[in-house]
Formats: sequence, C-alpha cells, structure tokens
Amino acid sequence: MESKITESVVEVRNLTTSYKERIIQDNISFRIYKGEIFALLGGSGSGKSTLLNTMIFLKAPTHGEVRILGKNIWSLSPEAALEMKLNLGVLFQFGALFSSLNVLENIMLPLREYTHFSQKNIQELAFMWLMRVGLKKEVANLYPNELSGGMVKRVGLARALALSPKILFLDEPTSGLDPSSARHFDTLITQLRGLLGISVVMVTHDMESVKGVVDRMIILKDKKVFFEGSLANLKTQVESLDVFLEQI
Ligand SMILES: Nc1ncnc2c1ncn2[C@@H]1O[C@H](COP(=O)(O)OP(=O)(O)O)[C@@H](O)[C@H]1O
Ligand SMILES: [Mg+2]
Repeated sequence: MESKITESVVEVRNLTTSYKERIIQDNISFRIYKGEIFALLGGSGSGKSTLLNTMIFLKAPTHGEVRILGKNIWSLSPEAALEMKLNLGVLFQFGALFSSLNVLENIMLPLREYTHFSQKNIQELAFMWLMRVGLKKEVANLYPNELSGGMVKRVGLARALALSPKILFLDEPTSGLDPSSARHFDTLITQLRGLLGISVVMVTHDMESVKGVVDRMIILKDKKVFFEGSLANLKTQVESLDVFLEQI
C-alpha cells in the first residue's frame, strides 16, 4: 500500500452532543484528512446535521472536542473563532440565498462583510466565483426565484467559496435536484476540490454521490460511528453494498 503523510483537517474526539437530556452522539471520534471528500451518512434523524453543526460553530458539544486545523474550535477566544470561521465555507441544505438580493449581490455578501476590498475588486471576485461554479455571466442579475434548483445550489456554493475557505461543508447538497443536476453538482465538487485543494465535508443520503465522489465516510447509527472508512473498505464488510446502502 502507498504510504503518505496524512494531515487531519478535522478531528472529532470523544464527542457527545445532546438537546436537553436527549443524547444524539455518544462519545464518538473520527478524523477527516486534508483534501478528502468526506461524507456523514446515517438514517433520517441519526444526527448528521447536528454533527455538522458542531463543526461550523452552530451547536456546542456536551462533551469532547471538535478540532479543526489543529484547534479545538469550542475553546477559542472570540477573535480566534472569527479567524477560524473564515476558513470554513458552508452551503446549507436549502441554499439560503437572500431573495431580495440578486445572484451577484448574494455572492458579494461575505466579501463585503469580511474584507476591506474595493467595491470593484469585490465585484470581480464575485464574477470569478460565479464562473468557477459553472454559471454564465448573465446569471449575475437574476434573483433567486428566477433560478432552477441546481442554479440555486451553485450560487450558494459560490457564496460559500467566496472567502477561499480551506474546508467546505455541505448539508444534503444534491437533495431536491433531478438526477442529472445532482451528478453535475458532484462533478463540480470534485473539480473544485482538485482546483482549490480544499477538503469537503458533506451530509448526504444520495448513494450515487457516495459511490461517485466520496473518498471516505462515517455512518452514524444508534448514537455511535457504526463505520468509518472508504467504500472499498465497506465492500469487504457487507454482503451486498447496494442492499446495505439502501438500508441506511
Ligand atoms: N434544535 C433541536 N432541538 C431539539 N431536537 C433537535 C434539534 N435539532 C435536531 N433535533 C433532533 O435531533 C435528532 C437528530 O437530528 P438531525 O441532526 O437533524 O438528524 P439528521 O440530519 O441525521 O436527519 C432528531 O431526532 C431531531 O429531531
Ligand atoms: Mg439533516
């Protein structure tokens, strides 16, 4: 086997999450390596979004650590937390575009908020991201309600990437897309990973994505990590991969 030095971008250590008394993750640990496309899998309600939220400053752990780029993100000072947040790009499940802003203004938003670039530079950067996610220049002036589902996801992706994050988080990026748009989105994610050298963490239940683009995954079950590894690893552990994946 090829040996290489692998650097973790995310390290979850003995993590427990809960809402009030109800435990969602019970003392789980896993790592995500630099450059990986990593999936969080599990049945509906298994805690995928909760887990993702502990990595993007939205849900504090009950116990344990979420280390990102070497730092326990839940013990950072407010200044250090802001600096860390700039390394993280997030595409939420429903795109979450501002309906009163056009496409370009949506992409420009994080640049306006977090940089001191000139208006002209911000606009140029937003156009660059628009094209990098495979959209035409003409799309810039459209409003969210004029976009297809696939285009909304792409604009959300451009906005998530605008500040050149090191890690991109995606919650169910292909849900609600037709199969062809979903596969195009998968291809785009793979291309961007290669082009930008980012690591990608995605919640998904799209098994075509898992087979097509995911390097490694965890499967959440009964509050624990039921499996961690690649699809090839998983194949050696189950009788029929397709039957197994359908049951998740
Ligand atoms: N804000 C919340 N308050 C209380 N319970 C929640 C909250 N968010 C999620 N839950 C519960 O936690 C469990 C895991 O939810 P979630 O992480 O959204 O699962 P998944 O993304 O895998 O479908 C579910 O039972 C859900 O109802
Ligand atoms: Mg969810």
